[in-house]
Amino acid sequence: MKIFLDDRLVDESEAKVSVYDHGFLYGDGVYETMRSYDTVFFRLDEHLGRLERSASLIRMQIPDRKFIAGAVHETIRANRLSGAYVRVTLARGKGPIGLDPALCKTPTLVIIAEPFHPYPEQFYQDGVFLVISPVIRNHVRAINPMIKSLNFLNNILAKADAKDRGAYEAIMLNAEGYITEGTVCNIFFVKDDSIFTPSVDAGILDGITREVVIRLARGSGLSVHEGLYSPADILGATEVFFTNTTAEVMPVSKIDDMTYAVGSISKRLRELYQAEVAKYVSLFRDGQKEVD
Ligand code: PDD
Repeated sequence: MKIFLDDRLVDESEAKVSVYDHGFLYGDGVYETMRSYDTVFFRLDEHLGRLERSASLIRMQIPDRKFIAGAVHETIRANRLSGAYVRVTLARGKGPIGLDPALCKTPTLVIIAEPFHPYPEQFYQDGVFLVISPVIRNHVRAINPMIKSLNFLNNILAKADAKDRGAYEAIMLNAEGYITEGTVCNIFFVKDDSIFTPSVDAGILDGITREVVIRLARGSGLSVHEGLYSPADILGATEVFFTNTTAEVMPVSKIDDMTYAVGSISKRLRELYQAEVAKYVSLFRDGQKEVD
């Protein structure tokens, strides 16, 4: 595969980053994950906007949005991909050992593109198993979850514990015991035809899929509430699902010992999301919207 490294495409075997890169030494950097449908990236501009926000929150200057968007497209073209998983990483860059970010003059840009492998359809039919994690989510005044940072150990520890317990994903709580999010996704639950999802101030990454799903749900007449919810709130739900760029809308069949039906609202939102993607892709493909 061809990898975009800093300012050009290189073969994967030549895509090497310095051992002095602070991304490697300290997890100092940010990233985004996006998905293309054919060759159109769904909500590329929002992903690049969030990358800029993450970078600014860690005081890192990064190449401009146009350059990164061009590089993302160049990378999928070079790999002849249609339907791709793309990860854009910006590490602090090479510098002497020491925490001061000013030691690193230029950030390292890496863009990896791979064929997108869909989740098994069975997952969508049956739902997946989640556990409430004993690992709490980073406090907003520690590494704010709004920063999509390379320092992912908080989530990795929760994921490893979930795997030990045979679960697919973990739901992390904050220090006050309120639900935040999964290790790579946002959580929603349904009660009496209303939808609930933790608000940003619970300490979450404000997912781009989350925002689209909230808009689609409201547009279809459902009421959506964002707030602070405890595990007891979710245990009494009728449906639970999670969202992210790669899985879209994924139903949850079990949290700890509590089981949930894969219900009509989760199914409807998945269909609405897919229709939204299809509309977006055709607008971009037909050139009715400016390609970013
Ligand atoms: N993860 N919360 C966390 C902690 C995440 O890492 C992600 C995305 C989300 C959902 O965000 P979005 O809808 O914008 O994908 C929420 C991606 C998929 C990843 O890390 O690969």
